[in-house]
Order: sequence, then C-alpha cells, then structure tokens
Amino acid sequence: MKTSVRKCLFPAAGYGTRFLPATKAIPKEMLPILTKPLLQYGVEEARSAGIDTMAIVTGRGKRAIEDHFDRSYELELQINGTSKEELMTEIRDIVKNCTISYTRQVEMKGLGHAILTGETLIGDEPFAVILADDLCDNADGESVLAQMVKMYNIYRCSIVAVEEVAPEDTNKYGVVAGEFITPNIMRVQNMVEKPDPKDAPSNLAIIGRYILTPDIFDIIKDVKPGKGGEIQITDALLEQAKQGRVVAFKFQGKRFDCGSVDGFVAATNYFYTKSKV
Ligand code: UTP
Repeated sequence: MKTSVRKCLFPAAGYGTRFLPATKAIPKEMLPILTKPLLQYGVEEARSAGIDTMAIVTGRGKRAIEDHFDRSYELELQINGTSKEELMTEIRDIVKNCTISYTRQVEMKGLGHAILTGETLIGDEPFAVILADDLCDNADGESVLAQMVKMYNIYRCSIVAVEEVAPEDTNKYGVVAGEFITPNIMRVQNMVEKPDPKDAPSNLAIIGRYILTPDIFDIIKDVKPGKGGEIQITDALLEQAKQGRVVAFKFQGKRFDCGSVDGFVAATNYFYTKSKV
C-alpha cells in the first residue's frame, strides 16, 4: 500500500434540495461563503494537508464546478493589472498547481455510491474525502484534514472525523461507538446511520471528512441500500470497524453544516467576522 495520502475525493453530485431554489441551476458546492465557493474552501483544506490531486464526483447540472477550476481568459484579460487581480490569487494558484479530474455519478444513489463512483480516479491507495458542504476551520492551527493525515500516518486505517452533537440531532448523522485509545481517538466498534436519539449508541457524529483505505471500494460494492434507500458509506465503514480498522478522531476546530440554512448563515457570520480582524 502507498505510504501517504496523495488524493482527495469530493463527492459533489447531490441535488442540494434543502437549498432550492438556489440549487436549481447552481451546484450546492458552488454556493459562496463571502466570495469563495464551498468547494474551493475544501480544495484549499486538502492542499493544506499536502494533497494536490483532486478527484471530483459531479453530476448533471454541475458544469460550473469545472469552469471554476479552469482558466478564464476573457476575465483575466479584463482584470490583469487592476486591483481586482488579487481576488483571483488563490484560485489561480489552485488551477496552476493542482491536478483536478472529474467523473460523473449518473444516478444519485447516496454518498457510498458517490465514493464508489470515484474509484476510477483514486485507484489502489488511501485517499481523503471532503464533503464541501461541511465547512471546517481551525483558526488556531492545522486544518482538520491535515490533522487527520497525521492520524492516518500513525494508525494506517480508515479515519473518520467526529464531533459531539446535541442528543436530539443524532438522526442527521452517522454515529459511532467504541473504545477511546486517547482522549481524542476512538477505535470504532459500532456505527449507525441516522439513529433515532433513543437508539443512538453515542452522540459522536461523523462529519464530512474521511480518510479511507482502498479496500472500501470492494466493500461498498456489496453494501445493500440502507437508510433512505441509499448506499451508505457508514454501512461499508462498519465492515472495516468490525475488523478494528476504523478510528474516530475528535478534531480541533469548528465545523459548519453549510448544507443547512442555519449552518450556512453561521459560517457566513464566522468568516465575515474573521475577515475583519
Ligand atoms: P447530502 O445529503 O448533504 O447532500 O450529501 P444532498 O443530497 O445534495 O443535499 P439535500 O439533503 O438534498 O439538501 C452529502 C454530500 O454527498 C454528495 C453531496 O453532493 C454532498 O456533497 N452526494 C450525496 C453525492 O455526491 N451523491 C449522492 O448520491 C448523494
């Protein structure tokens, strides 16, 4: 197995129905927090973890994503030499220095299925997964994915980022249970997708950051549709967890669920305040 995490997969094929009508023609992952699309925040986080190969799973109506991570000659001609040029510094740097490839999920059969669709771009090596609608920031230090890559280099198995959620919210997440090895690291023994609060094995919820070992692809192929009729990544991870090969990591930093209006507004306020400091 390859030694480091070199690639990051971005499942971005979902319909984003909670953001209709905004997401009718615009991909949810392209909605901006201040002036930057969610997906660009995700790509920047991957780069901060030493990753420069991005694999994006798109779907119908998502072409704006490919246009964003490309050159725009007309626009560049227009702003070259003006004060606006600096607004393009980060995206220009990404376009210049990253390899970005795409594949399409034809039927939206869930997150597990979207990850399996990315197999062709990932191959046989460990990889990161970022759900761009979960926006993470660690103002005091390393990004969440950079912290996770360090954990991967120690434990050499799949890593899921978790945080404590209010007990009444467990039905929105995959929830883990297991044994803590250190105050922030749990060897996962059980995981349940969107449990009712009364059935939840804990209040530790998986958020949109994963590092997965490539055997996950074959496991997903055998997973039957679960909650909501979707192929759930949680069900595939449970198979690895039964063999002691999943670690849950309580990361340092903040996470905003930008797939919900409340989380999106909270993220906007947070980044606006941060930009004024
Ligand atoms: P979500 O469930 O949050 O996204 O999936 P959604 O289905 O687009 O949102 P709503 O509930 O309708 O508002 C988490 C991530 O997984 C991707 C989504 O694009 C999102 O980034 N996803 C989900 C896929 O790529 N394919 C799928 O079949 C499902």
